[in-house]
Amino acid sequence: MASARKKAADAMAAIDVVIEVTDARLPEASSNPMIGELRRFRNRPCLKLLNKADLADPAATQAWMDFYNRQPGVKAVAISAKNPSDAARVPALCRQLAPHRDDGTKPLRMMIMGIPNVGKSTLMNALLKRKVAKVGDEPAVTKHQQTLDLGPGMTLTDTPGMMWPKIDYDSDGYMLAASHAIGRNAVIDEEVATFLGGILLERYPALIAARYRIDPAQLDGPALLEAVGRRRGCLVKGGGLDLEKAALILLQDYRDGVLGRISLETPESRARMIAVADAARAEASAGDQASPDDGEE
Ligand code: G4P
Repeated sequence: MASARKKAADAMAAIDVVIEVTDARLPEASSNPMIGELRRFRNRPCLKLLNKADLADPAATQAWMDFYNRQPGVKAVAISAKNPSDAARVPALCRQLAPHRDDGTKPLRMMIMGIPNVGKSTLMNALLKRKVAKVGDEPAVTKHQQTLDLGPGMTLTDTPGMMWPKIDYDSDGYMLAASHAIGRNAVIDEEVATFLGGILLERYPALIAARYRIDPAQLDGPALLEAVGRRRGCLVKGGGLDLEKAALILLQDYRDGVLGRISLETPESRARMIAVADAARAEASAGDQASPDDGEE
């Protein structure tokens, strides 16, 4: 990871605009903080692409765009990289962010960055109108950095998907796993699906009711998994519920977008989550500092 960071830092020195691809359903959780740090250090503008907008809740996506567009040096746009006309807007947007390169002599140098599975390869292929990067729903398919010409006076550098070593908030880990940015073996599907179920029940109960024909009132995450398992006949030998199978059904339905357009976080929900997590940490560390004296006279 240190070498990936070094490569990204070196590459950033030689580009004009960072194209950061995130997942529109979880834009902050799917943003590697290292990308922002490197970019600010080098003072590079950022086109923040909230990709897979076709799967995300449009109201939440709009709230995120307003949130990012207030940040200096950032232009946020919602796209579906699978849609060629969305991808085609990207070079002109980058050009607006680097007007100093628009003198007819200097090429505009763009670099695509982002965590695995947010759609970097899909975007790259759409921009180049040919298949240069392998697209896959398994994390970390692009392995090497490559720079390609993107028509006259424009180059595009592709970087491998980069996760960061320590995810600060547990809920970010669950959101990333639900959206398949963290690999299959790294997490327990049942735990992830229970977390996802909790969000769906809170924010999208009507979509749950419509998809599984169950009454979501009074359910929590674990009870939702059981209800999905019963509805879909997920049974183990002997007749008990196969919750692992129910978890995979819920996760796959979310990943494929068949539940409807869903966002796992909004600027408000994220601010609340951080406030609660930070308060819990502060309390825990106050407890740790108090404990050495416990019992002393
Ligand atoms: P990466 O390079 O960042 O790792 O991501 P990649 O392009 O490989 O895309 C990961 C998955 O996300 C692929 O799904 C891809 O098709 C899908 N994807 C990319 N952009 C969009 C988008 O705007 N909307 C939607 N709905 N999906 C998108 P896959 O299941 O592996 O492939 P496929 O069967 O969809 O082709």
